[in-house]
Amino acid sequence: MPKQRWTSRLGVILAVAGSAVGLGNFLRFPGIAADNGGGAFMIPYFVSFFLLGLPLMWIEWTIGRFGGGFGHSTAPGVFHTMWQKNRFVKYFGVIGIFGPVVIFSYYTYIESWLLGYSVFALTGKYAGCGDSGAMAEFLRGYQGLTHNEHFSGLGTAYLFFMMTFAINVIVVGFGISRGIERFCKWALPLLLVIAAVLVVRVLTLGAPDPALPENNVANGLGFLWNPDWQALREPHVWLAAAGQIFFTLSVGFGVILTYASYLRRNDDVALSGLTAAATNEMTEVVLGGSLVIPAAFAFVGAAGIETIARQGIFDIGFITMPLVLGKMAYGQVFGFLWFFLLFVAGVTSSISLAQPAIAFLEDEFNLSRREAALLFAVITFLLCQPVIFFYGNGVLGEMDFWGTTVCLVVFATVEVILFAWVFGIDRAWTELHAGSDIRIPSIYRFIIKYITPLMLLTILASWIWTDWRRHLFLEDIPPGDKPIILLTRVGLAGLFIFLLLMVRIVWRRRSAAAAQEIDP
Ligand code: PHE
Repeated sequence: MPKQRWTSRLGVILAVAGSAVGLGNFLRFPGIAADNGGGAFMIPYFVSFFLLGLPLMWIEWTIGRFGGGFGHSTAPGVFHTMWQKNRFVKYFGVIGIFGPVVIFSYYTYIESWLLGYSVFALTGKYAGCGDSGAMAEFLRGYQGLTHNEHFSGLGTAYLFFMMTFAINVIVVGFGISRGIERFCKWALPLLLVIAAVLVVRVLTLGAPDPALPENNVANGLGFLWNPDWQALREPHVWLAAAGQIFFTLSVGFGVILTYASYLRRNDDVALSGLTAAATNEMTEVVLGGSLVIPAAFAFVGAAGIETIARQGIFDIGFITMPLVLGKMAYGQVFGFLWFFLLFVAGVTSSISLAQPAIAFLEDEFNLSRREAALLFAVITFLLCQPVIFFYGNGVLGEMDFWGTTVCLVVFATVEVILFAWVFGIDRAWTELHAGSDIRIPSIYRFIIKYITPLMLLTILASWIWTDWRRHLFLEDIPPGDKPIILLTRVGLAGLFIFLLLMVRIVWRRRSAAAAQEIDP
């Protein structure tokens, strides 16, 4: 089957930027920044960007395009072509399919809440909820955690989930250029425009309550950005910054690598990668930093925002924002814009999470695109069910841990070592610059060879030491939920082993076929 291709350079940049710009930019980032030193957080954040995020962005574009030249669009094949003598490296590549599938299975569910809430904003369904208590109850009802006057079960949530899931499968079903590229070409500009409209609305709020003039947007920006330098002494702040950079740029998962495999040999990767990364950073720091926190602050003030920040990221998005926006003139419209913005940002990210598994089925099993999308849909639909029905027991959190923490660092570490040390930095540097429109400063040779791998190994070690132990032994899980979490883990392990076996079978078949050709 002929290899699929992007049709334009702008298209591939928008698709990669679409993957990067997501819920991470508008919800995760402001929450984490406010919690970890405010303006001071920008130091570890940008250090991570320049030493981890950007190098990995370039690495994934380069090795993706390289592997694509050999007909591989996913990490097992790409890693294998980079280190043909090694029999095991392809199995590490499985992480680059497994991780995205796991993340996709809960990310689409959250995405579907956003679709639901967009509709509720317009129809005024949550308009009667006057305070955060009532709004929280509304959310819990929607999630099926309680029965209340708004919802009597998971029916509504399930309906929106099915719609969201279908949209995702349809877009990826149309393939790279006719599906993903065409979708991102209007979705990314659209979401930037919506975000800009919302930012203008928030920044012109002033002090909404004349009786409390100190509750204003300027102070809200101050709350987010005033630096707390003490925070820089805390290792967990640096780890949080690195984690945010990976998540927001979508690097270290295997998705950018897959997108880049649809480039031609002489398409530029250096400038395109930089452009996609810069677009994401602009959206995150400028737009993401000017929405939730300043808006919430203007309405609830310094005392209120502390409580809100502690509630966590989802609560800011699903409880505080609808309340705040509801108090403005044309509140229903702004509420809609807010949720729809997040929904569109979510879809452009989740389709990138779907593509690796689909590409794997197409390349290595010769399935047609339609067949691959259908099989992918069946498998992930099953995986979504525990996320939906056992949401209250922490299944989503467990999958998030494996998908975005464990898989991520291990995969990123393998990638950079393969690139800089196995492939070799000289060859890697030449490959990165093939067809390129810019020359990357040569300090990045040094960074990619030494700094990025060292930082990744340090992060891996400190995560194992601090977080993972507690998590692995289920220390923070209520006793009643432990069986479900363990079952989730067994299920995930099963999926992982299944993928390992698939890789084994494919390569066996391939070497048998090769042997036959030599000796018919
Ligand atoms: N980058 C996306 C966001 O900011 C999330 C994502 C992670 C998407 C990994 C794809 C792969 O929301």
